[in-house]
Amino acid sequence: MHTCSSSAAPSLATDESTANASVFLQDVLTGLSKTRKELHCKYFYDERGSRLFDQICELDEYYPTRTELGIMAEHAGAIAERIGSEAVLVEYGSGSSTKTRLLLDHLDSAHAYLPVDISGDHLQQTAQLLRADYDDLEIQPIVADFTTPFELPDAYVSLPTTIYFPGSTIGNLKSDEAIGLLVSIVDQCGPDGGLLIGFDLAKDAAVLQAAYDDAAGVTAEFNLNLLHRINRELDADFDVQRFAHVATYNQDESRIEIFIESLDEQEVCVGRQQFHFEQGERIFTEYSHKYRVDQFVSMADQAGLKMDALWTDSNEYFAVMHLFPV
Ligand code: TRP
Repeated sequence: MHTCSSSAAPSLATDESTANASVFLQDVLTGLSKTRKELHCKYFYDERGSRLFDQICELDEYYPTRTELGIMAEHAGAIAERIGSEAVLVEYGSGSSTKTRLLLDHLDSAHAYLPVDISGDHLQQTAQLLRADYDDLEIQPIVADFTTPFELPDAYVSLPTTIYFPGSTIGNLKSDEAIGLLVSIVDQCGPDGGLLIGFDLAKDAAVLQAAYDDAAGVTAEFNLNLLHRINRELDADFDVQRFAHVATYNQDESRIEIFIESLDEQEVCVGRQQFHFEQGERIFTEYSHKYRVDQFVSMADQAGLKMDALWTDSNEYFAVMHLFPV
């Protein structure tokens, strides 16, 4: 009989990192206790996970990042024109702001750029680099999790605001969450503002399959890093070699579904709690929805947004859309 003994004493959170660790632990325990086990995709991005994701973006099979960049590079002028002058640009999940630079280079007298990200350090660094290159632009980083409503600084609330939401991150949300986020975007951009959003398009299943299960196994490593991270940070004993990365295309729901599958029957400890895995049992980690343009338009419509303009690549793999509140 396998039992779990924990070296980590239960402790009260005394500082931010301890508080974050206990939220992480709670989320993992809750997720693994569900009938269908799950782990939240926001935990993919520790230092190693972020590095692996950068590697995914360089893979031949992983088309989204380079396709979206290509669209932005080719159409930046036209996109900037739809946004208009004196814009306040708010970017959700800004990271390194690579795509935004293409936009800022074409925006006529933008009023301000407000990158929003959960990673405060990364955000400050990016802001410094941007300030050096765009002297006339006000840059005001906001540390926030954009999946829950947050306030813009007072100075900007009454100005027409364009929300920029690239990367098809919307596709990682469940559809009710996606509509909820679009509703709060409408609220935040105001009647004279708009939304510029990048989303991945429905396409041949084999292309999708390869993008989420590459030959070199980088994506598998990225997904399984979640178990390594739990071992490292939460006093757990996942034997990662006995788990596998699974990515399947669900045609009916038009989405890639990502799981971690147990290769045999096993017990795992997280802290002092023990979890049983059947052979073949899966932990759900992420959806990645792929939209047809008309599907996306009808989802936006439910949130009170109307398409203004659309740009795609020659393969029609990815789309960038500008929308206005109705
Ligand atoms: N947001 C990315 C996407 O949906 C994340 C991603 C790419 C991903 N490859 C992955 C998530 C593999 C989990 C596993 O395209």
